[in-house]
Order: sequence, then C-alpha cells, then structure tokens
Amino acid sequence: MGEAAIQGSKNAALPVMAASVLVPGVTVLSNCPEISDVSCMCELLRSVGAKVVREGRKLVIDASRISRCHLPEEYVTRMRSSVILAGAMLGRCREVYFQHPGGCVIGDRPIDMHLDALRQLGAVFTQDGDHLAGRAGRLSGARIILKFPSVGATENAVLAAVLAEGTTEIYRCAKEPEIRALCSFLNGAGARVFGGGSGHITVEGVSCLHESRWRVEPDRIVAGTYLIGVLAAGGRARLSGAPARQLTEVLKLAQRMGAQIAADKEGIWVERSGELKSPGALETGVYPEIPTDLQSPLLVALCRAQGKSSLTERIFNGRLAVAEELNRMGAGIEVEGNCARTQGPRLLTGCSVTARELRGGAALVLAGVCAAGYSRVYNRRFIDRGYEDIVRDLKSLGADIGSET
Ligand code: EPZ
Repeated sequence: MGEAAIQGSKNAALPVMAASVLVPGVTVLSNCPEISDVSCMCELLRSVGAKVVREGRKLVIDASRISRCHLPEEYVTRMRSSVILAGAMLGRCREVYFQHPGGCVIGDRPIDMHLDALRQLGAVFTQDGDHLAGRAGRLSGARIILKFPSVGATENAVLAAVLAEGTTEIYRCAKEPEIRALCSFLNGAGARVFGGGSGHITVEGVSCLHESRWRVEPDRIVAGTYLIGVLAAGGRARLSGAPARQLTEVLKLAQRMGAQIAADKEGIWVERSGELKSPGALETGVYPEIPTDLQSPLLVALCRAQGKSSLTERIFNGRLAVAEELNRMGAGIEVEGNCARTQGPRLLTGCSVTARELRGGAALVLAGVCAAGYSRVYNRRFIDRGYEDIVRDLKSLGADIGSET
C-alpha cells in the first residue's frame, strides 16, 4: 500500500554509457540509476581514458581522449554486458582487448553473435587463452543477419556501424525499448540510425559524433518487479514514472490474474484485493513478450495464485535456479528442464535464503514480503546491481523490510 518512484533503466543506461566512447567530447546523462553496474561501467570508461564525474543520477562523461584499449578483466568478468564496449571501442579506436566474459549463474553467455557482427564490419579477432584482441584497419558497412534477436549483439553492431564507412543493414534485431533508446541517443549525437526498436536497423556511417545530453528512461523491469510484488502480496500501489507502454504483456497478465490496473503517462496504478488467479501456462520471450528478467519475480506470484501454473524460460538456460531457494520458503515449484510448475496458493514461510544473481535475488525479497514470519536474504550486493534501493522502494510500498550492513 503506497507509492514508489521508478528509477532510471539499468539496461538503457549501460549501452548509452558505452556509446559515449564514440563521442570525442562530453556526454551528459541524467536520471542514471545509482546502481553498481553503472559504477562498474564508469570504471570501465575511466580505464580507457574517459573522464567520468558522477553527481547522484547525473553523469558527465568526457571521452575527448581515449588513451587505452584494454578493458580490465575484473570489470569484464563481473559485468558481462561490458562486452558492448567492444563495438564502441572498435568504432572509436579500431582496436579493443578484453577477457571473454564467460558464462554466469543465469546460464551460458556466449558472445558469438557479437563477434560475428563485428567481424562482418571489418574487425579481426585473435584469441590467446580467453583473452580477445580485436582490431579493424577500417570499419565498412555490411549486411548483418543475426541468428537470434540478441539485445547485446544488436547494440554492439549498431555501435560499431555508426562511424563505419558506408551503410550497414542489420536484420533480426532485438526490439527491446533499450535498443530504440540507444538509437535515439546516437541520432541526438549526430549519428544516422534508422529503425531502432524494429527488427531491421539501417545505419549510415558518419565521420564523427558531437556532444549531447540524454535522459535515461524509467526501468521497465524494476517497475515490473514491484507490480508483481503487489500481485503476490496483495494491496494497491502507485508506481510513478513506470513505463506502462513497455509492459503491455505484463499488465495484461496482471489483469488476467485478478488485478485492477490503471496506467497513464505518469505511471501505473495497481490493486490486487481479491483472489489471485493462476494464469495457466506462461513463457518468457523476446520483446514485447513477457521479459525473461521478470521470470523469477513471476514465480513468486504463481505460487501465490489459486490453481496450477507453469512458466517456461525461453531465453536463458540457467535462470530457474532460484526455485530451489524459493522452495525452502514453501513455494512448491517443480523444475523440469526450462519449465517451472507450481500449484497454489502456497503459504510461504519466512527463512534465511541466499541470492545468487540479480533478478532471482529480487524474487527472494518479494517472497519474503509475502511470507509468514521473518526472512533474511543474503548477498544483497547482487540485487544492488540493478535496483537502486529495493529496501527503500518496498518500504515505501508498505513492506515490513529493513537491512543490516
Ligand atoms: C540483455 O542481456 C539484458 N542485459 C539482460 O538483462 C536481458 O535478460 C537480456 O538482454 C534479454 O532481454 C542488458 O541489457 C545489460 P541477449 P544480453 O544477448 O544482451 C544468447 C538483467 O537482469 N546469446 O539478448 O546478454 C544468450 O546466451 C539482465 O538486467 C548467444 O547465444 O541478452 C541468451 O540465451 C540479465 N550468443 C540469449 O541469446 C550471443 O552472442 C539472449 O541474450 C549473444 C547472446
């Protein structure tokens, strides 16, 4: 019961921060979320010679001088999405050295599509162990067909094509809102990118970009997490700034499960007072389907819903591991391959659980809010990668929640 203001989007901010490397001057970003992944990207930008001044949610990035091309291993392995710096570095300096980021707890995280797209633009990669060296004498426009609409590979291809000679056509692009945002930012800095947010993007290479300012849009996954929290726990909330138009499938699902939803350009109002009904069989998919990043929070709502539910994860091959921790609270989730099944409503019992990754950690907190008795969620650092302050936000929505350092 209450109101929460939705922070800026992690997955919109990170690619725009990478894109600032293409600008031989100052880029000013506002409404940048104060999360550790943004801090990590700030360190990566500093490591290649950019000057980054952070004042709360405002970032001033001066990439006038990019003096180094090595991305430090500690940051690349900590944050796999740092691989989108490769395209920007090749675009700016024609070379980049980085550690293959490898898999993580939500599944394999290959970068084959990233490397294939960059090779088609003229980059040559040599591998020494898991060190990758990328060089490009020149970058030339190409016709790239992605084998899957990968968000990161789409971003990398666009970033490397912006300063290439000639025109690049990218087919089977990811359509996530963060791609549209990145392309809008780039055009505001003098690039010529058409079709951002559609399955086909055209980039006409330009000789250089110029300084610009950009406001990061609200985070649809943070908004979706808290909306699902209201579904699971019951109550009513106003999520101010929530980007309703980017959550269409999730809002339809919430209504199917018995919630009342009202949405306008100011945000989303959600109430769940009656019975939470099972939606039957769900699956995650590429935008605009139900996002994989909301799969784990949704597991909490499904085990609280009346009836049998299933949720099939179609994007990552290791993202259902959180079910094991949820089951320690009594969630009754059975996992078979990439499908999770449960029959609710389950009365969750508070206990100590451990977060292993960002969205699974957020799901454990939501489960703790719904459970009888106290829960402790360890490894808060994983949650702080993407949520500015989940304790602050859920407390403002009426949860009995606190944290110990
Ligand atoms: C982005 O990751 C997001 N991260 C993820 O959010 C999000 O879950 C994902 O897109 C899907 O929407 C950022 O934007 C920083 P993909 P990304 O490339 O780009 C496979 C969060 O919680 N693949 O669309 O890494 C890959 O293994 C994070 O905020 C290849 O096989 O996702 C996965 O199975 C988690 N080869 C699928 O494609 C490649 O070269 C989709 O990955 C690239 C990807």
